[in-house]
Amino acid sequence: MSTESFYVTTPIYYVNDKPHIGHAYTTMLADMLARSHRLLGHDTWFLTGTDEHGQKVQEAATKRGVEPQAHVDEMVVRFQELWERLEITNDDFIRTTQERHTSVVQEILQDLYDRGEIYQAEYDGLYDVRSETFITEKDLPEGFDADHLPEYVKTIRETNYFFRMGKYRDWLVEYIEENPDFIQPDFRRNETLGFLRKDLSDLCISRPKARLSWGIELPFDAEYVTYVWFDALVNYISSVGYKRNDEEFARRWPCQVHLIGKDILTTHTVYWPTMLKAMGVEMPKTIFAHGWWLSGKDKMSKSTGNVVNPLEYADRFGVDALRYFLIAEMSLGQDSSFTEEVFIKRYNSDLANDLGNLTSRVLKMVHTQCDAKVPQGNLELSEGSEEAALWKVVQTAVEEMTNHVAGMRPDLGVASVMTAVREANKYIGIRAPWKQAKEEDRQPLYDTLYVALETLRVCAALLTPVMPGKMADLRHQIGCGEGDPDVADLRVFAKLIPGAKIPEAEGLFPRAEKPKAPKPEKAKAPESVKTIEEIAIDDFFKAQLKTAEVKKAERVEGADKLLKLQVDVGGESRQIVAGIAKHYSPEDLIGKTVVIVANVKPAEIRGVESRGMLLAASKKKKLTLVTVDGEIPSGSKVG
Ligand code: MSP
Repeated sequence: MSTESFYVTTPIYYVNDKPHIGHAYTTMLADMLARSHRLLGHDTWFLTGTDEHGQKVQEAATKRGVEPQAHVDEMVVRFQELWERLEITNDDFIRTTQERHTSVVQEILQDLYDRGEIYQAEYDGLYDVRSETFITEKDLPEGFDADHLPEYVKTIRETNYFFRMGKYRDWLVEYIEENPDFIQPDFRRNETLGFLRKDLSDLCISRPKARLSWGIELPFDAEYVTYVWFDALVNYISSVGYKRNDEEFARRWPCQVHLIGKDILTTHTVYWPTMLKAMGVEMPKTIFAHGWWLSGKDKMSKSTGNVVNPLEYADRFGVDALRYFLIAEMSLGQDSSFTEEVFIKRYNSDLANDLGNLTSRVLKMVHTQCDAKVPQGNLELSEGSEEAALWKVVQTAVEEMTNHVAGMRPDLGVASVMTAVREANKYIGIRAPWKQAKEEDRQPLYDTLYVALETLRVCAALLTPVMPGKMADLRHQIGCGEGDPDVADLRVFAKLIPGAKIPEAEGLFPRAEKPKAPKPEKAKAPESVKTIEEIAIDDFFKAQLKTAEVKKAERVEGADKLLKLQVDVGGESRQIVAGIAKHYSPEDLIGKTVVIVANVKPAEIRGVESRGMLLAASKKKKLTLVTVDGEIPSGSKVG
């Protein structure tokens, strides 16, 4: 029995989020790797799951008026159902609210506390409510400082517990440098090393219950819960028996690859290794950070409404086509663009044209010319022949797929298989079996079809981890019988058994038509019923709206629409340039209290600096400034 083991993980997803293409991508990639290793006979384990604690879950549950546990129990199903629909073959699904996880986290904490790796101290600093992390002034976005904080950053002074992460800095740098495979791709390793060049502070691993109660209670202080990342990262070992089942743990750990997105690099390449080091646990072999799927050129975001829903594509084109696209399109490590146009283009060229056509051309001939049976072809490949040349390309695909899966470039592996498919189409064009069918000697025709079927056999096996459903159909259609392909057969010519029945089958990948552009609306909808794009409340709070009193106003020379205002914002004087000269004369404005967006980036308008933006209501040619009702000092918060 093979003793090689392969343990692959995905990040555990925040249970509050609706699963999107980014989640589906990592999970499909992990699935593809797991399926490949299973075919190689490796002792494979594939873990995914959900991250269920933290502020956002607590808030979402409160909003719905349900208990957090009831809330996460409902939410988790969306992930579990999606994975089933996408034919994901995870061996385990961990939820951080499960006792098998929480109890291990507590045991780890107690142990680290007993050994002085965790200590109590007072924290006085900045806290980012959105990411639930403590930050420093240098983490603030441009235009902000300790006196001007974004809405989502609070100043906090509280007693907390800290993990002595800082003391592992030198060790970690050395470990990363000595183990080039530890963080991949290379440029991500450099990113982590860059991060470690600065001082590494200790990690605050607690949250007072008074502020957040939905978390794992610290075993040594019931007033606190565990910081959500310290809790979540432990899933990779709690799920495989750490502190519970030594035999299981020794069998699975260390993990071969943690697949992550580039945004969670620091938590995985700094927090996690130092935590493991403190626990005395071996490091995972590789932490691999992939890039992001963009919507065209833009970041996908709920507020922009451009997030791709994996189910929509699975429903329209089939699960396998979606899996194929995601694996073939992304150069692992880089960002990739997801658009319907690119999807349809790749689907049609690779699947409908190249692979689909090869299959249907060959099978049609086998049905009409060979009595729907695998023909008795020549089972030897004569040297220097077209057949031998094609088989060589097929063997290159076998080799490259194997190497590229090991080297985390499955896109290149898939490309190599497609080269073999295209080569087979060329071969069919050269041999022209439709002409051979008119000749008296049937052998050349049988030889051609047999070689083409053999090519399809190997390509279908190589693509099985990517498109398990369609490739099982294809294997069935060419007479391979049921069951998984045997990788040992991929390097051997003439495995198909002449005389095997070829069943009647439908086309594998019907051509996809690009949906017609929607017809222009006949009548323009009245403005009041136009769809309004929804944004998350957090996005609204990014804008700091404040009252400001106009102290001075004057026209901008050479710009008949612009006024230059000096306003007072709670004692701070600012200059704002606004396009309101056609609606207000400078003297109308002096003494008015207006509303401004105080945190827009400073801009230069017609060579004049402007620090802020006035709010105004406008319709057609009419414009009036937004003012406040009643007396309120300048600098007051609006919103
Ligand atoms: N809960 C944490 C992970 C804890 S692991 C111990 C988390 N969850 S998440 O749901 O927000 O994100 C999970 C993964 O989705 C991340 O790896 C992230 O990079 C990935 N993606 C989110 N949007 C993405 C794209 N648009 N494209 C590709 N992956 C992206 O972070």
